[in-house]
Parts: sequence; C-alpha cells; structure tokens
Amino acid sequence: MSTLSIDWNKLGFQYLRANCHVRYVYRDGKWDQGRLEEDENISIHVASTALHYGQTAFEGLKAFRCKDGKVRIFRPEMNAGRMNNTARRICMAPVPESLFLEAVKTAVKANIEYVPPHGTSGALYIRPLLFGSGPQIGVTPSREYTFIVLTMPVGTYYKGGLTPVSAVIYDEYDRAAPLGVGNVKVGGNYAASMEPHERAKQEGYAVELYLDAKEHKYIDEFSTSNFFGLTADQKYVTPDSPSILPSVTNKCLQRIAKDMGMVVERRPVEFSEIDRFAAIAACGTAVVITPVNRVVRGKEVYQIGPPQGTIPELQRLYDQITSIQHGDIPDPYGWMVDLE
Ligand code: COI
Repeated sequence: MSTLSIDWNKLGFQYLRANCHVRYVYRDGKWDQGRLEEDENISIHVASTALHYGQTAFEGLKAFRCKDGKVRIFRPEMNAGRMNNTARRICMAPVPESLFLEAVKTAVKANIEYVPPHGTSGALYIRPLLFGSGPQIGVTPSREYTFIVLTMPVGTYYKGGLTPVSAVIYDEYDRAAPLGVGNVKVGGNYAASMEPHERAKQEGYAVELYLDAKEHKYIDEFSTSNFFGLTADQKYVTPDSPSILPSVTNKCLQRIAKDMGMVVERRPVEFSEIDRFAAIAACGTAVVITPVNRVVRGKEVYQIGPPQGTIPELQRLYDQITSIQHGDIPDPYGWMVDLE
C-alpha cells in the first residue's frame, strides 16, 4: 500500500488506472468463470451490438475504507437488481446476483490499495459494465455478452461536500421519453445528455435539470442523478416519474429522512413548486448529495435556499449517509457489505 503516488484529498471524478479489472463472457447460454485482466484494452467484434445499436448498460457503486480499517461495499445487491432490470429491457443476458457480487468483491480485493484512506472523503468507485459483444447486423440482440467490473479511486463529482452548484433547464432538450428507457441505466441515456451538458458547462452551470418529456411541466431528474427537495415543514419530496432512474442513494435518503421524522413524498413534482423548497439537491452514487441553490430556465432565475451552504436538515441527511458509508457510526440498516 502507500507506494501509490495519489493525493487522496485532491481526487476528483476521473478515470484512473488501478491494477486490473474482472471480466466475464457469456457464450452458448452461460457465463464463464471470469478472470482478472491487467490490460485496459478489450478486443471486440467489429459488428458487436454494443458498438452499433447501443446494447450496453452500466452501474456505479462505491467501496469505503471504514473507521475500523475494513473495506466495505455500499448496497451492491441494489445495483445487481438494477443492472438486471436494464439487461431485461434491452434483451441482454442477465447477470445473476451471486455472479455480480462475486465480480464486485473480486475487483475490489484485487485493487484494495486504491481504496482511499479513512478520513478522506474519497471512495473506490466500482463500475460494472455489461454489453453485447457478439456480432449482429440486423437490429437483434447479441448472442454473446461481456460483463466487466472496473474500479478506481474517486473524490467529489462536483465541488464537494455540501457546496451548492447552479443548474439549468434547456426546454429544447429532453432526457428520456415516458415509455422509453429513462428508468434503466443504458449508455445511450448519457450520450443523449452530452450535448446539453457541454453547453451547460460552457454557460457556467454544473448540471442540467430535465423536465418530463411529454409536457415539460414536472421535474424528472438531473443529467447524472435524481432530484429531491426539502420543504420548510420537514418534507422530503422526490419525483415519481416513469422516465427517471431508480437511484439507490435516493432510496437510502428517503429511509434516513423518514427515520429522522420527516414526511417522505414520492409524487409528481411540478416545476412551478421549485421556489417553494427550502433546499433542493442532486443525489446519486457519484454526486452523493449536491445542493443546488440556483436554477435558470430561459430568462427566469430561481434562488433556492441560502446562497452559501445549506439548511440544517440537508446537512443532517448528508452527515448520516456519509457517516454510515465511511463507517464512522454503526450502520443501523445493514447496508454495508463486508468483502469476505
Ligand atoms: C453514478 O452515480 O454512479 C452514476 O451513474 C453517475 C455517472 C454517470 C457518473
């Protein structure tokens, strides 16, 4: 360990080479035994369905070096289930939960020295990837699939901690159609967000917020994460929409909020409610909780919550989830999974 020249406190969210990844191949109706690979390049069929038709899905989860020195993974079974929902929707071979968990643990163990030290805000980001690696030239599911789990140390996705960021709504872009694939984690959803995201960055916004594609009346989610708002009367409000990704972090926060005595409302959230929230935030594995204190839509500017920092309730949610993840407090929910 510590022969690595990584400044753990300066980690952002970038690709960083670790030791190896784990790779499995599905052929003739079954998954192979899997193997560790040091080579970061893969050889893939020129007519593979992933390259031509976007038959590809990914997940994101994290491992933490906890206060007692042990490395634990945050709710991997949730990601296993979600990856299989995605696989079903785009007709890929499912990855059995036991294989998913074995792959994640194998990848973490093989890269254990890349798990940031306790006391930093970093984590080992785990990126499972599933794609059609066999050839088809008609629009048909592949008969071969590749499942990879790669890992890398990461810090904060945006500014870090509870530093608020600005968001923008572009009414000329949608993220996902109501009966489309917004509720699963296919690569194409993220490709669709790249043009508006590049524009947002150029115009000085950290993130875009998407409204429902049918009416542009309801809040859906941010480009990389779910949306929630807190009201002055202690409600945790998050959109119920057919076109958003079921976020593991959001589900955890709903549970924590409920246990803190808040009322949790999962319902359609009209955009017109935006400035009635005492705080709004993006939540997800990569962004954890990132408060948004300013939303711009055309000529309208909405200020939400205090211009600096945030409200105590949001701070409490953040402290609770990050303390569980980093093993600073006992995990009352059984969310943290040991490596063994
Ligand atoms: C994650 O939070 O892991 C995500 O999937 C967001 C990712 C696109 C960076």
